[in-house]
Amino acid sequence: MTIDAADIQRLADLLHGQRLVVLTGAGCSTESGIPDYRGPETRRKARNPLQYRAFVDDEAGRVKYWSRSAVGWPRFRQSQPNAAHQALAVLETTGLVRGVITQNVDRLHQAAGSRRVVELHGALEDVCCLACGAMEHRDNVQGRILALNPGWDAQAVDFAPDGDAELAATTAQAFQVPDCVACGGMLKPNVIFFGESVPSETVDAAWRLFDECDALLVVGSSLAVYSGYRFVREAARRRKPIAIINLGETRGDGEAWVRVEGRCGTVLPALVDALGASPSSFAA
Ligand SMILES: NC(=O)c1ccc[n+]([C@@H]2O[C@H](COP(=O)([O-])OP(=O)(O)OC[C@H]3O[C@@H](n4cnc5c(N)ncnc54)[C@H](O)[C@@H]3O)[C@@H](O)[C@H]2O)c1
Ligand SMILES: [Zn+2]
Repeated sequence: MTIDAADIQRLADLLHGQRLVVLTGAGCSTESGIPDYRGPETRRKARNPLQYRAFVDDEAGRVKYWSRSAVGWPRFRQSQPNAAHQALAVLETTGLVRGVITQNVDRLHQAAGSRRVVELHGALEDVCCLACGAMEHRDNVQGRILALNPGWDAQAVDFAPDGDAELAATTAQAFQVPDCVACGGMLKPNVIFFGESVPSETVDAAWRLFDECDALLVVGSSLAVYSGYRFVREAARRRKPIAIINLGETRGDGEAWVRVEGRCGTVLPALVDALGASPSSFAA
């Protein structure tokens, strides 16, 4: 898809000289090979995401989660930042972008060099013990999973968003769930499941960043999830300029001052150029 130069100019005119907070969603990472939930391709394969209670209350829920994520994780962890993540990191070095509030759990903003990132929904590479609170890197847990379930990651599957993967229903039955190494307690990926709320410290950090800024840029989010959409609502209430870059419609379209239809991996580098903020000019 080609992008309209007039759109980029409108975006640059709106955002130039502002202190900008960026809200990103799954669409920011599709060009890194991580599927979104509600994009043109994924909507057709409507899935039933795991609910928080089904995970903590039910062994079968945990078997389902870990058996699938054991297959999905190796590919998820290899994802690399794309041109959209890189452009946002460049715009932070120029001072235009003050920080990113992300709904993504892939840590690709940090991998691209963004420094101030609020992870609204946590990160998949962190695993937390619900009994003792110990945090462990997902790679370590993966090692234990494969020791308990040799060869489990060698299955042919259909990869899904959030590091999940579709398995044949029968294969999950014999799966052994990993426990906390410190206390034997229940492990949970440190991400917000459906039916769980965002911790108040995280929400506070997001509002602090929001309050420091004059304008909001949304990148690659349908805004269907309220924990992200509330920033658009509040920006509208306070009459802060709102810009949206997305493929397809979003819940915030009616509130946007400028809306650019396009791939963020194309639009954001064009915005960097339009603002005269090339990476080389800020390399020092
Ligand atoms: N990468 C990740 O970490 C990841 C992936 C899937 C889901 N999630 C989780 O699921 C929830 C999904 O909500 P959401 O609003 O973030 O995502 P969403 O799937 O609801 O919306 C993504 C939007 O981005 C658009 N899009 C896809 N590719 C794009 C591109 N290259 N350029 C511009 N737009 C593009 C889609 O059309 C869609 O409108 C979040 O809460 C998030 O935690 C995270
Ligand atoms: Zn523990």
